[in-house]
Amino acid sequence: MSNRSRPDFYTQKAKKEGYMARSVYKLEEIQNKTKLIKSGDRVLDVGASPGSWTQYCLRLLKGKGMVVGADLKPLGQFKARGELHFIQGDVFSDAVRDDLAQWGPFDVIVSDAAPSTTGNRLMDTRRSYDLVEQILDFSLLWLKPGGNFTVKVFQGGDETEISDRMKQEFDQVKKLKPKAVRKESFEYYLIGLGRKEQPQDESE
Ligand SMILES: C[S@@+](CC[C@H](N)C(=O)[O-])C[C@H]1O[C@@H](n2cnc3c(N)ncnc32)[C@H](O)[C@@H]1O
Repeated sequence: MSNRSRPDFYTQKAKKEGYMARSVYKLEEIQNKTKLIKSGDRVLDVGASPGSWTQYCLRLLKGKGMVVGADLKPLGQFKARGELHFIQGDVFSDAVRDDLAQWGPFDVIVSDAAPSTTGNRLMDTRRSYDLVEQILDFSLLWLKPGGNFTVKVFQGGDETEISDRMKQEFDQVKKLKPKAVRKESFEYYLIGLGRKEQPQDESE
């Protein structure tokens, strides 16, 4: 059995705790270290399927606040504890935008979204970088002032451009590689805390 096919500590823990995926422990560590999500928050989970981050947010909120999840693929089967609305589709599509308009803006946006990979490292890094840029633009449309944000990034692209942009938009920007990220993976998370107030447009 290869290392990858052997269920690891986090896979077994996720199974035992009833989570859809081991990636839940990445968000758990981000939450423990940054207190991204607070009781009563309205959270948007971008790239939510199969649903472990959504499950984690719902458990954390304990019925106070709500979670909206969006993904190209459906959620897995789990019992949602608390208020959940799921939108299936491309988050950048008009249909998803129209649906989101009924639920946003959000206090927190979390994104573990990843493009489908081709196996070509250069192409995959480019695609994931483009996706992160798109997610940041998209999130700035839906995030309240004071709101918090995290996004998955793959090392190897122009990540400093993304973190520099985030520094303009958030009071604090942190970078974290949670313990649950597999050793061979190039992924890490950027976290933006406290979205800055937008300057008023003088022409309005
Ligand atoms: C690693 S998975 C997310 C796992 C999830 N955080 C969990 O814990 O269950 C990445 C997801 O991003 C989604 N995704 C990628 N691009 C997307 C897009 N443009 N719109 C919606 N979902 C997208 C994929 O369909 C995939 O399900």
